[in-house]
Amino acid sequence: MQLSLLDVASPEDGPRTRVDELRRQLEHHNRLYYVLDTPAITDAEYDALFRELQRLEEQYPDLVTPDSPTQRVGGAALEKFTPVTHRLPLLSLENATNAEEIREFDLRVKKVLGLPQDEAISYICEPKMDGLAVELVYEDGLLTVASTRGDGVTGEDVTENIRTIRSLPLRLSGESVPGLLEVRGEVFLSLDAFQKINAEKEENGEAPFANPRNAAAGSLRQLDPRITARRPLSLYCYAPGVAEGADFLSQQEFFAALAGWGLPVNPLVRPAVGIEAAVAYYDEMQQQRESLPYEIDGTVIKVDSFALQGELGEKSRSPRWAVACKFPPRQAVTVLEDILLSVGRTGVITPVAQLRPVEISGVTVSRATLHNWDEIALKDIRIGDTVVVERAGDVIPAVVRVLPEKRTGAEQVAFPPEKCPECGSAATRIADEVAVRCMGLACPPQIRESIAHFASRNAMDIDGLGDKFVEQLLSLGLVQSVADLYYLTRDDFMRFERMGDKLASNLLGAIEASKQRELGRLIFALGIRHVGERTAKALAQAFGSLENLEKATFEELVSIRDIGATVAQSIRSFFDNQANIDVIQRMLAAGVTPTEEKKKVGGRFSGKSFVFTGALTRFTRDEARQMVEDEGGNAVGSVSRKTSYVVAGEDAGSKLNKARELGVTVLTEDEFITLLEPAD
Ligand code: IVH
Repeated sequence: MQLSLLDVASPEDGPRTRVDELRRQLEHHNRLYYVLDTPAITDAEYDALFRELQRLEEQYPDLVTPDSPTQRVGGAALEKFTPVTHRLPLLSLENATNAEEIREFDLRVKKVLGLPQDEAISYICEPKMDGLAVELVYEDGLLTVASTRGDGVTGEDVTENIRTIRSLPLRLSGESVPGLLEVRGEVFLSLDAFQKINAEKEENGEAPFANPRNAAAGSLRQLDPRITARRPLSLYCYAPGVAEGADFLSQQEFFAALAGWGLPVNPLVRPAVGIEAAVAYYDEMQQQRESLPYEIDGTVIKVDSFALQGELGEKSRSPRWAVACKFPPRQAVTVLEDILLSVGRTGVITPVAQLRPVEISGVTVSRATLHNWDEIALKDIRIGDTVVVERAGDVIPAVVRVLPEKRTGAEQVAFPPEKCPECGSAATRIADEVAVRCMGLACPPQIRESIAHFASRNAMDIDGLGDKFVEQLLSLGLVQSVADLYYLTRDDFMRFERMGDKLASNLLGAIEASKQRELGRLIFALGIRHVGERTAKALAQAFGSLENLEKATFEELVSIRDIGATVAQSIRSFFDNQANIDVIQRMLAAGVTPTEEKKKVGGRFSGKSFVFTGALTRFTRDEARQMVEDEGGNAVGSVSRKTSYVVAGEDAGSKLNKARELGVTVLTEDEFITLLEPAD
């Protein structure tokens, strides 16, 4: 930045330079956080910068400009979703980071209200959910619009995605539903859901989410609501917007009304009379934090009475009647001593950070995930670096970033392995994937899981061959690959602990029976990357035999419906590996003779027929048919008395009328999706 002579001569030179720098940094981090969903610093660090700017502006009021981050609410909305302007801006909260600052908030409240310092204010205490703020609009009880916070004034229309949240009513229930109700709340993912999504992502060779908040953000801002539907987002409501025809006089009454309408409210919300009760709640929640199924980053204290809230009013960015009481961040600084390689079930070779042991909120951390080599390169993580490590609940800790200023020059850049550290097979990076994989079927850590997968119910269905037996087969050195299963004898099984004649016969019988499974099951059982049950079935139908599939060229593979370049390449790599061919041949030589494909029976839609009509907005007709077939049902073209369901999109015409005439059940697209969801 250029400074004029006048600037240099000014006594405010130091503060002015700093103020400019702070604004630049805050704008940058705002954009990373709100627009790109890729925060580079923690909330605590952001808050520290923000507070420093606030302090300087208080000290030097001449330096305040209308475009300072302190004078407005946030960053800008992305273009891909329709912008939604909030009727009332979504404010932020001021922070307190310890009991003393919480008590200062209480004193400020009483000062503004002109109340004596020993007055006990009625507060409401709430967990501060670590997710994303959204606003829901219910008109005459119907959910019409849901939007993200955005910059506080304008957010993005995410109605379709919000509708996938099953805990959220699409229509309010109960008595006296208001004509217009705006409710603000936080969308979040449970730790459990977060771990499942990341496991799936790693499995598919995609970059995992850094934390549950990012995963929730990524899921909410998904352009395809079907993907969001598979991500079990949750939501708790915590604040009203405009409400016409509702008459709550306090936060407590507001929560009671929400519960009456069926809107989700965090059950940990609790009233507190006097600030000490609110401080006790803060301490208690900090203890509970470790055992909650979701992430919270603090508590929020609000003045209960809406009349008092009105009197207290707002500053430009936050209300005077509430405070966010932040917990200390669950991060620590330590040294990354080495990068270890861990080979997973599907051969993914994951880099793992070996750390100088460090305590993070009561837990000693000595390992952290580095996810994949792209992440290492992106974050420029080197062996010997001083790093920031973060943990959430019992989720595996992650390396957040490097502190480059701590470098001595002795740090070493780490490169992806060219060979599998366990079996020496080539380690390959498949196009479009971030993961480096060991391609060998004969890799020890992979064998156990690959055998368990091979034997599993949806694959070769070898009844009784569970994890425990697979473990024993391996430790006794009886199997090295799935093919060896077909060479096991009664004597082999009798070497197992607690094995009887009958059990041995059953296992042998189950293995024998599996020799004649459908070809699709066998293809699925091989565990080829990207080849799930559906793709395996399509391959079986297209090629008719394992030999044909083995010989299929890339071009032949991609010409099959639903098979893209990534899948085709993965299939080719699998069959180009001689070790895999050897396993298959040994298996066929033992008498494995796959049979022709049969239609799936016993699926949830088994025996049911569906007609799709009208303009479908949530899936294509092809996808709909596939979904029905996957569940063992039939998608047919015309409506008859025998039709089980008619799924009607927009502007459905004669087929819908016919369905009504014949008394056939008519479903909306949403209702059809609900049928597909697993029963709780
Ligand atoms: S009240 C004016 N209550 O924290 C009222 N916010 O730092 C503003 N948050 O943007 C919000 N849990 O995303 C409120 N129980 C809670 C909350 C909560 C999480 C988030 C929300 C807000 C941010 C403010």
